[in-house]
Amino acid sequence: MRVRVLGTAAGGGLPQWNCGCQSCCRAAELGVQLSQDCLAISGDGNSWYLVNASPDLRTQLLATPELRPPPGTRRTPVEGVLLTSAELDHTLGLLTLREAARLPIYATAAVHQALRQAFPITEVIGSYTAVQPQTVSDRQVLTAGLAAEIAVVGDKRPRYAGELRGTGWVVAYRFTGAGRSLVYAPCLPAWSDAFEQIIDGADVVLLDGTFFTEDELTHASGSDRPASSMGHLPIRAALPEIARHPRTRFLFTHLNNTNPLAHPDAPELADLRAAGAEIAAERQLLVLE
Ligand code: MLT
Ligand code: MN
Ligand code: ZN
Repeated sequence: MRVRVLGTAAGGGLPQWNCGCQSCCRAAELGVQLSQDCLAISGDGNSWYLVNASPDLRTQLLATPELRPPPGTRRTPVEGVLLTSAELDHTLGLLTLREAARLPIYATAAVHQALRQAFPITEVIGSYTAVQPQTVSDRQVLTAGLAAEIAVVGDKRPRYAGELRGTGWVVAYRFTGAGRSLVYAPCLPAWSDAFEQIIDGADVVLLDGTFFTEDELTHASGSDRPASSMGHLPIRAALPEIARHPRTRFLFTHLNNTNPLAHPDAPELADLRAAGAEIAAERQLLVLE
């Protein structure tokens, strides 16, 4: 199994265009840019699936040689997209994929409903490409060497979908190929039993690193919204849980622009290292064989 981390930031990216917080200013000064979270995964190195479709997708695809069409063809190695939620930072990139000949989209029934009704993007791109909505089941074989399982980890609906009902709004995927496994959970409201089960025995877990602390937004922007009310378990609360799984490699992704850990020289990284965890890097390649 090969996994390419296409982007590691939360919605807005780093720096965020309208944010003058310390972290965004520093990033702008240093020329540091984190793009919005997205993953590419392959069982055989030839057929690839995207997990989430970020607003930065075009740039991310062009920066990834494995995802380029073979010269002289108009054939993409991208076989489809799996969505962990219907949030805009995970779905706006679907617009970029409209040039595809066909576009299988794997998601829960709730997410498909949002993309049909509240934010009818599949309707819109359906005029350009053959959208093939697939409702993800418990276990799904994607290609011969790659299977996906899901766990529902949250029920926070996107703000634009406030009227819709149903469950299964936020999921984690566990990918398995040749006996190795990786879990992708860029949004994780709590370390639940469902999450504990899906990461059991996994080799690698990429998980929600939106905020380092519960009150980070208060300090950075005067907002009164704690991390947990926004559906994001802060890194600091995840570290003791991570320490209980010494055989699994944990990397945080979906970092908000206020998160001090977005900067490689942050003193807070010492806490992370002590727990045996890492911050995922833009374009990082993980090879699980
Ligand atoms: C989230 O991760 O909570 C959402 O993407 C928030 C947003 O950017 O709307
Ligand atoms: Mn997000
Ligand atoms: Zn900022």
